[in-house]
Amino acid sequence: MKNVIVGQSGGPTSVINSSLLGVYQTAKERGADIVYGMVHGIRGLLDEDVIDLSTEIRNELDMDLLKRTPSSFLGSCRYKLPDLEGNEDTYEKIFAILKKLEIYAFFYIGGNDSMDTIKKLSDYGKQVKSPIRFMGVPKTIDNDLMITDHTPGFGSAAKYIAATMKEVIRDGLVYDYPVVSVVEVMGRNAGWLTSAAALAKGDDCEGVDMIFLPERVFDVEYFLKKVGELLKENRSIVIAVSEGVKVADGRYVCELADHVDYVDMFGHKQLAGTARYLAGEVAKKYGCKTRAIELSSLQRCAAHVMARVDMTEAFNAGGAAVKYAFDPDPESKTGEGMTGMVVTLKRVLDDPYICITEPADVHEIANIEKKVPQEWITKDGTNVTDDLVHYIHPLIQAEIIPLWVNGLPHHIKRGHTD
Ligand code: F6P
Repeated sequence: MKNVIVGQSGGPTSVINSSLLGVYQTAKERGADIVYGMVHGIRGLLDEDVIDLSTEIRNELDMDLLKRTPSSFLGSCRYKLPDLEGNEDTYEKIFAILKKLEIYAFFYIGGNDSMDTIKKLSDYGKQVKSPIRFMGVPKTIDNDLMITDHTPGFGSAAKYIAATMKEVIRDGLVYDYPVVSVVEVMGRNAGWLTSAAALAKGDDCEGVDMIFLPERVFDVEYFLKKVGELLKENRSIVIAVSEGVKVADGRYVCELADHVDYVDMFGHKQLAGTARYLAGEVAKKYGCKTRAIELSSLQRCAAHVMARVDMTEAFNAGGAAVKYAFDPDPESKTGEGMTGMVVTLKRVLDDPYICITEPADVHEIANIEKKVPQEWITKDGTNVTDDLVHYIHPLIQAEIIPLWVNGLPHHIKRGHTD
C-alpha cells in the first residue's frame, strides 16, 4: 500500500492549503504513488468522492498558487463521525474504501472537532489491527488546540485583525464628533484572535480602547458604563469584541438580539450579531454615531495579508505529519509509523523566534478547547496584557506576496485546466 489520502475539515484559514501542499510534496518525496484528496473531508470520502491530487498540482506554478489561495482547496465539512459502538457499519465502510484505494496513511487537516475524526478512525484501526496510519495536521484561526503553542492559520488571521484595527482606528478619527466602532472577531469560545486587536497599538497608532474576550463573563451594563467613561475623553472609540462573549446566564450576547437557530453537528451555534447588538445599545444609551463591524469570513481568508511565518509553519506541519506516519515509530517495535497522533508546534525560542514540530496523542487534543489564561487578561476584563501581545507578535511576522493578475490576487481552483 503506497497511496495516501488527505482531507481538510472545519472552518478554513488563509494557509490551510500550505498544509495540503506539505502533505502532498512530502508524501511524493517519500515514495507515495497516488496522493488522494477527499472532496469535502470525511463526508466526501463516505461517498467515495476523491481526486488524484497530481491532476490538480501539476507544476511549480500550481504549487505557488496553492500556497497563496485561501480557504480549503479540497472543500471542507463539519461532519461528526458516529460513536463506534453500535455504528460499526460506518467504520467498516470507510476502511473498505481506504483498502480499495490502497491507502497506507490518512491525513486530516483540522481543528479540535476534526481531530475527533482522527481519534475515532485510529481507535477503530487499532481495534481491527489495520496497518493504516491516521495523522492529524493542526489548523484553526481560533488557536484553541491543546498542547501546541499555537495553530497554523492563527498568525495570518491575527495579522489581518491587527492591520484592520489600525485602519478602523484611523477611519474613526475622521470626523470632529464622537463615533463608537464595535468590531466583532471570530474565535468561538476562545479569545485568542480577538486579543490580536491589541497588536494594533504602536508609534503610529493609539490602539483599540477595549477588548472583550469570552474567557470573562460579559456584562452589558458594565460595558456601557465603560463606553460612557471613554466618551467623556475621546472622539473615536474602537472596541474589539469576541463573537463568543456570553452573559452571566450563559447566553451568547448575539442571542440577546437575534434568534440564532443554526447549530452544526458538533453542537456549535452559528455566532453573529454581537457587534450589531452592542453598537445598538450604545446608540440607544448615548445617542452617538456607532458602527458595527463584523469581520466574519474576511478574517480567515485574507490571503493578501498572510503571515509568511504562518504559511511556512502550516507547510511544515503537513510535512511533519507525513514524516511521523512514514518513519518507524521509536515507541513501537513493529517498525511502523505513528498513528493516532497530531502534529504540534513547540516554541523553542522567542527572540529569535524558533519553532519545531512534535507529535502528540490525539486523545489529548480532540474535542477540547484551549482558552486564553486569565492572567493574560487585565483585572477589569477590558483588555489583554503585554504577555499576550508578546506571545502573538512572532506569529504575524513577514509577508508573502500574492501573484497579481489583472490587478487582483490570483488563486487556484479545483478542476482548473489552465
Ligand atoms: O472553526 C473556526 C471558525 O472560523 C470559528 O472562529 C467560527 O466561529 C466558526 O469557524 C464559523 O464556522 P462556520 O464557517 O461553520 O460558520
